[in-house]
Amino acid sequence: MTPNSSDAIAVKSAVQDHYGRAIMNSTGCCSGQSTELLLYGAEALASLPEGVVTTSFGCGNALALADLRAGEVVIDLGSGGGLEVILAAQRVGPSGFVYGLDMTEAMLETARRNAERVGATNVSFLKGDIEAIPLPNQSVDVIMSNCVINLVPDKAQVLHDAFRVLKPGGRLAVSDIVFDGDITNFAVSEQAIRAALSWSACFAGALTSNDYRLLLEDAGFEQISLEVTRRYTLEDLRSEGSDMLQGLPDAVMHELEGRVTSCAISARRPR
Ligand SMILES: C[S@@+](CC[C@H](N)C(=O)[O-])C[C@H]1O[C@@H](n2cnc3c(N)ncnc32)[C@H](O)[C@@H]1O
Repeated sequence: MTPNSSDAIAVKSAVQDHYGRAIMNSTGCCSGQSTELLLYGAEALASLPEGVVTTSFGCGNALALADLRAGEVVIDLGSGGGLEVILAAQRVGPSGFVYGLDMTEAMLETARRNAERVGATNVSFLKGDIEAIPLPNQSVDVIMSNCVINLVPDKAQVLHDAFRVLKPGGRLAVSDIVFDGDITNFAVSEQAIRAALSWSACFAGALTSNDYRLLLEDAGFEQISLEVTRRYTLEDLRSEGSDMLQGLPDAVMHELEGRVTSCAISARRPR
């Protein structure tokens, strides 16, 4: 379900507004209290100097999934306040490099301030759209992304461009919101279900697991794995701003319960 071009512009502008305000108020999307502690652990966060904004808007731990090694070049698509970029930079060390890419100015400002406070010299935050990654072909070892691809209108384009910038043998490590299985077999249309969910809170634009796999295959990836790490309750969805849910028939609500998930998605560009 790719929006047409004017809808796509409206989606990006609404997402930018939402996350520009969110980082100012430091309220997460698919997160909750102490998400950062749960995701990255007290030890990693304790290593950061005072004043670093550790707010995460993620829905999983792309950093752990990426299993980074010293010397690797990494890009984090939709890097937000920069927390995962900074933690990744510690893992790849001075011989490695980590780019953060985001389209929201307030996020980039926070991320750059954070990197300065940490004294990270092996990071750079780029302004841009993850549908057109501003890096050359075959230039990175690892693509990370945490709770961003669901927000983008043209997911196929994101995955094709991710494949383009990866070196042969390079890895994709993504945490994202995904519908477990098909959502065309419900008593109401897929469109009605998506309309009841919030796009900016990462739910309405989510791919189904089947479509995610197909798009990854189509982009050229192999060794594809999608693993559910969390299942959202209706309460979770409502508390993240999916206010129209109550308009759906009870039977549909029941079927939807637990079908919206956080997923750890990994794949590799063939050598
Ligand atoms: C849910 S937040 C996740 C931020 C970060 N990955 C984290 O875990 O905290 C989504 C981020 O993706 C960015 N974003 C959404 N769509 C984007 C796009 N098309 N291009 C670049 N950044 C985008 C937003 O500006 C926001 O910072």
